[in-house]
Amino acid sequence: MSKKDELITAAIAAMPQAYAPYSQFQVGAAILDDNGDIHQGVNVENAAYPQGACAEAGAIAAMVMAGGKEIVQIAVAGRGEVLCTPCGGCRQRIREFATPQTEILVCDEEGLRKSYQIADLLPDSFGPDNLR
Ligand code: THU
Repeated sequence: MSKKDELITAAIAAMPQAYAPYSQFQVGAAILDDNGDIHQGVNVENAAYPQGACAEAGAIAAMVMAGGKEIVQIAVAGRGEVLCTPCGGCRQRIREFATPQTEILVCDEEGLRKSYQIADLLPDSFGPDNLR
């Protein structure tokens, strides 16, 4: 299995672990970092709705904890006809650790549906370079 297929499989495998009792919308995310390691995350909702966290945020936190510095690829998996593209906040979270080559792989429970680069999802973005 290619690393990309492994990543997509990891995002899909994470989905049922999501804690989404309010929306019932389970999202899994998996990051391939610059060390070649994979980090998974799921959405974790909260009775105080705005305190819920997205799957991408969990995967990014796991990557940072493990020492990853760059997102090479991130797969995000959610059900439905409409593509489960990262929300606005998560586009900015991904941007922090992305390069122009970073691939964002949008998946459903069956596999890959569409690939993007960060500039497709967040053009002319504000990032770490702005503060250097
Ligand atoms: N969700 C994610 O985990 N990632 C996204 O990029 C889109 C939305 C979650 C948040 C919430 O728990 C559920 O999906 C419904 O919005």
